[in-house]
Amino acid sequence: MLSELDTIQLEGLTLLASVGDETALEALRVNFLGKKGRLTAVASQMRDVPPDQKAAVGAKLNEVRTALTAGIEERLLSLQAEKDAASVQGIDITLPGRPSPGATLHPLSRIRDRAIQTLRRMGFAVADGPEIETEWHCFDALNTPADHPARNEKDTFYLPDGRLLRTHTSSVQIRTMEVVKALPVRIIAPGAAYRRDEIDATHLSVFNQLEGLYVDKNVSLADLKGTLEVFFQEIFGPQTQVRFRPHFFPFTEPSFEIDIKLEVKGQEARWIEIAGCGMVDPAVFQAVSQMRGDNLFNPEEVTGFAFGMGLDRLAMILHGITDIRHLIENDVRFLSQF
Ligand code: DAH
Repeated sequence: MLSELDTIQLEGLTLLASVGDETALEALRVNFLGKKGRLTAVASQMRDVPPDQKAAVGAKLNEVRTALTAGIEERLLSLQAEKDAASVQGIDITLPGRPSPGATLHPLSRIRDRAIQTLRRMGFAVADGPEIETEWHCFDALNTPADHPARNEKDTFYLPDGRLLRTHTSSVQIRTMEVVKALPVRIIAPGAAYRRDEIDATHLSVFNQLEGLYVDKNVSLADLKGTLEVFFQEIFGPQTQVRFRPHFFPFTEPSFEIDIKLEVKGQEARWIEIAGCGMVDPAVFQAVSQMRGDNLFNPEEVTGFAFGMGLDRLAMILHGITDIRHLIENDVRFLSQF
């Protein structure tokens, strides 16, 4: 019996060396150590071993089991190592890695972030509102009469239920004043606006605006001018000249368009329109007060200024981009310049 055990061990270890994969190794383990395996068969004959030999045979049995178990374990590790080595064959792991080209922010994101940063420093908080709007928030509350051309089906995307894709971020003025609990209100709202424009070098049907609103007791036109002058000088440089030109918007009175004087090397300096603004029309406070049912925005007691500008346009002026479509085409030849 002792010699039979020796044979099993020798055979087992010899076979182990020629096992080529994990499946064959498992078969071998079952064959030798499994419930119906050869070692188990020998063990079941223990009761026939004369008592004086039992200790020696038992010890031998354990020795063989230990040797085979260890051999199988070792072979498993070496098979796994061979597999790992095969999977990286032909890969030179000592080569330096391939650099992936660094990404940058889209020019639109950059100007938006810069504008937010500048205005936040001046005390404005970022506010938000839905892009699908009611006519009331987008037009009525902003003192825009029913026959105003902006409300036309030709100019505005209407949903079947009568709501619309907001044509400007000015609706966030109303959304904000509806819910605030106290004054002052000092917010900016960057976001998308939608118009049924013919798409060309200066128009897209989706574009980006930045709205601003400041309401409190005693907000004046001087506050408006000071704030926006500083803002545009932060964006375009401290020498930038800023001009306020009388204009009309339904939701402000008085209203202005803001021009900056653009100096492009090799060209004659010229004024270009960059934003709209004005003192909030009391009719807007009236509409908000009616909706709120309280007196926080009593038109007799509060004043405010508002402004709105196109972020796409700002980015175009800043970078000398001549076609707005570049901003949405995702052409890396364009984008990698920023
Ligand atoms: N909502 C205007 C537009 O889309 C821009 C604007 C003008 C916003 C004057 C304002 C403002 O807040 O006071 O053309």
